[in-house]
Amino acid sequence: MAPTIVAIDGPSGVGKTTTSKLVAERLRLPHIDTGAMYRALALKAKRHCISFEDAERLAALAASSSIDFVPGERPPRVILDGEDVSDAIRTPEISMGASTVSSVPAVRRALVRMQQELGARAGGVLEGRDIGTKVFPETPHKFFLDARPEVRAERRYRELAAKGAEVPLETVAREMEERDRQDSTRADSPLTCDESYVRIDTSDLSIDGVVEAIVGRIGA
Ligand code: DC
Repeated sequence: MAPTIVAIDGPSGVGKTTTSKLVAERLRLPHIDTGAMYRALALKAKRHCISFEDAERLAALAASSSIDFVPGERPPRVILDGEDVSDAIRTPEISMGASTVSSVPAVRRALVRMQQELGARAGGVLEGRDIGTKVFPETPHKFFLDARPEVRAERRYRELAAKGAEVPLETVAREMEERDRQDSTRADSPLTCDESYVRIDTSDLSIDGVVEAIVGRIGA
């Protein structure tokens, strides 16, 4: 039997990571955070002083990198070339950098292949922007999470504040808008939702409500 793949796509700040983690626990599947993989590559580019727009060097970097998740850890730790980079990838600079490197087609090809291999091992709940359109377009379990822009900005602001980062709400909202624009207008696999997805607006739902909606649809 083919392993179960659950695709959870949507823009930032809609609750993808928390939701995916809980859905993965409920379904006993690995949680694969594909955004973390683009973030890891952006971090490596920064450390090697490679511009986030240098397509040629980024492609070589992607081809020579190993990015994995520690199985069983919740939330999964992200391992870049053997190093745990889970915390280092969660900064505003790396958020924007990940969005920029993710628009390079050769980077996408390399990371999509890695994501397909990870999913083929034991199935998974994969969160990202193109899981249902590009990585696993055949899965019947596709969910697109969305929320009102002000709710998303507020959530991301609180997340950063909880980690001690003092970024004003207006700055968070502006950066989020810029990243959304970049992610949904790039030529290769832009963020889109079509009729094959179940669309869920999470603005006025609790996390548990979103998880129940997804698990209920899958029929687990
Ligand atoms: O989900 P996230 O915010 O951690 O993702 C960081 C960036 O990576 C996001 O702005 C766009 C890119 N990304 C992508 O292009 N495709 C994915 N499947 C996941 C993330």
